[in-house]
Amino acid sequence: MKKIQISPSILSADFSQLGNEIKRLEEGGADMIHVDVMDGHFVPNLTIGPPVIKALKKHSSMLFDVHLMISPVHKYIEAYSDAGADIITIHPEATDNLKESILKIKELKKKVGVSLNPETKIEVILDHLEQIDLVLVMSVNPGFGGQKFMPEVLNKIKELKKIQQEKGLSFDIEIDGGINFENSKIAIEAGANILVSGTTIFKSNNGDIKKNIELLKLK
Ligand code: DX5
Ligand code: ZN
Repeated sequence: MKKIQISPSILSADFSQLGNEIKRLEEGGADMIHVDVMDGHFVPNLTIGPPVIKALKKHSSMLFDVHLMISPVHKYIEAYSDAGADIITIHPEATDNLKESILKIKELKKKVGVSLNPETKIEVILDHLEQIDLVLVMSVNPGFGGQKFMPEVLNKIKELKKIQQEKGLSFDIEIDGGINFENSKIAIEAGANILVSGTTIFKSNNGDIKKNIELLKLK
């Protein structure tokens, strides 16, 4: 049974204080930092890019779990690797050749994540699972924090867990979007071992990050 990890999304952080916000997450017991990169093309929102990640990484020893909601993504992978991403997660729809993009990330000695939108079927990544370190299951349509959790994706997590056990694989299953104190337990029970959360961690209990992270881990 994998240890449950929390990857707080800085999309819900105070962007004018990002360095301090990451320190708060570290002190609050986060296992890694979920960095949502958006290009205003793959998703209708625009956030940060390699220069900001590079600046943040200089002040943090945390693992950067970088979620690339950008397309085309292949030609930018190296830039995010150089900026300090430790896990590079891409969307299959954002590359012409998923196999090549996965290989590129591995060549750069980074962990490979592939993200499935609520509408995206597991079949899209089935042939690549042996090469993947992490499957990021979206429980909202990507683009914004604070959206409503889509419980139907839990079946996808259960299916992934079953395939993982049948094939004897050990990729992490990360769930991302609308995770809160009510649904974190069912997400874990379904098979997720990494929970991404932005709004719940930064906004609940008067922004008591340590308390919010602990509450999310409770099974
Ligand atoms: C949405 C992002 C998520 C989002 C999570 O496109 O990928 O990581 O920031 O934020 P909450 O937890 O507020 O849904
Ligand atoms: Zn994300």
